[in-house]
Amino acid sequence: MSFTSVPTKPTRLNRSQLFVPGSKPELFDKACKSNADIICLDLEDAVAPQDKEQAKENVIKALNELDFGKKTISVRINGLDTHYCYRDVVDLMEQGGERLDLIMIPKVGVAADVYAIDMMVTQIEDKINRNKKIGFELIIEISMGITNLDSILTGSKRIESLHFGYADYAASVRMRTTNIGGSNSDYSILTDETNGERNIHWNDMWHYPISKMTTIGRAHGMRIIDGPFGDFSDPDGFKSHARRTAILGCEGKWAIHPSQVDLANEVFTLPESEVQKAKDIIKAMREAQESGAGAATLNGRLIDAASIRQAEQIIEQTKLIETLS
Ligand code: COA
Ligand code: MG
Repeated sequence: MSFTSVPTKPTRLNRSQLFVPGSKPELFDKACKSNADIICLDLEDAVAPQDKEQAKENVIKALNELDFGKKTISVRINGLDTHYCYRDVVDLMEQGGERLDLIMIPKVGVAADVYAIDMMVTQIEDKINRNKKIGFELIIEISMGITNLDSILTGSKRIESLHFGYADYAASVRMRTTNIGGSNSDYSILTDETNGERNIHWNDMWHYPISKMTTIGRAHGMRIIDGPFGDFSDPDGFKSHARRTAILGCEGKWAIHPSQVDLANEVFTLPESEVQKAKDIIKAMREAQESGAGAATLNGRLIDAASIRQAEQIIEQTKLIETLS
């Protein structure tokens, strides 16, 4: 391990994050009754400009009056390039009470974006003697956000998680897609001929930014969360979308419809077979170490101290889910 240690972030369950437009207060109660780990009340892109003020009032009222149980509550504010942004922060912080846990900042491009919000939040927390410290969730969804990721994460100690925004990212880098999180058969290769046949091999066009986020984000101790899958009538598509980012190191995924919440919880709860395998690895390695060996075999495969670290991650995440869900 490096001699430099990464500070521990607050531990939260983040398998499913259900978005609810702030302009639709009739959905808030339904969101509370869902199995979502985190509810994100949205003031940004799901709210039309003429509804922004009313949406904020709805959200502030909900933060003061609704029973969210033990769920984590987040509000997505408007971007720093809009005049809504500063008032979102001031009004939420001054009038939202203690229930709010996280502020989600969209379209982050440079560290100063996060620093600016931190400056406001810190002053208001101090002024109103807020007991609970607000955490930040950042949406990485513009090319600047991906390019400057490492330095962005030094912008505030409040940052806990990174979220991948498919649609804005696609628009930002001019990808040719219109479905939120969808695939495109043109992003494929035609295989060489084998047994007289050529096949189209589809590729995952979102791999690079998500992989960059898991690698750089984890170096700063962040949770990495997969963003939306727009086709809410396609549960199989959602699950396959979620599975691939779970494999890459994401801990959860957005749900833009209640039907996606249980699907996300299912995919991001580690399967019993993997947990059992992790336990077997730890047991086999302990036995090997007791007999003086540094490496061992389990079911014909090499395992060593790194295998223990991999297995421990799986056990730790499973314990977290058992404790917090
Ligand atoms: N949170 C809580 N409940 C929701 C919900 C949400 N985000 N979306 C839908 N529901 C409820 C509906 O009210 C309906 O309840 P009912 O059966 O009691 O009438 C039920 O779930 C089924 O909804 P459905 O009719 O299938 O969907 P819809 O056409 O009403 O809404 C969307 C579809 C996509 C417009 C809606 O789900 C939505 O606004 N999602 C959030 C979008 C968002 O926040 N985007 C920003 C992040 S990308
Ligand atoms: Mg976006």
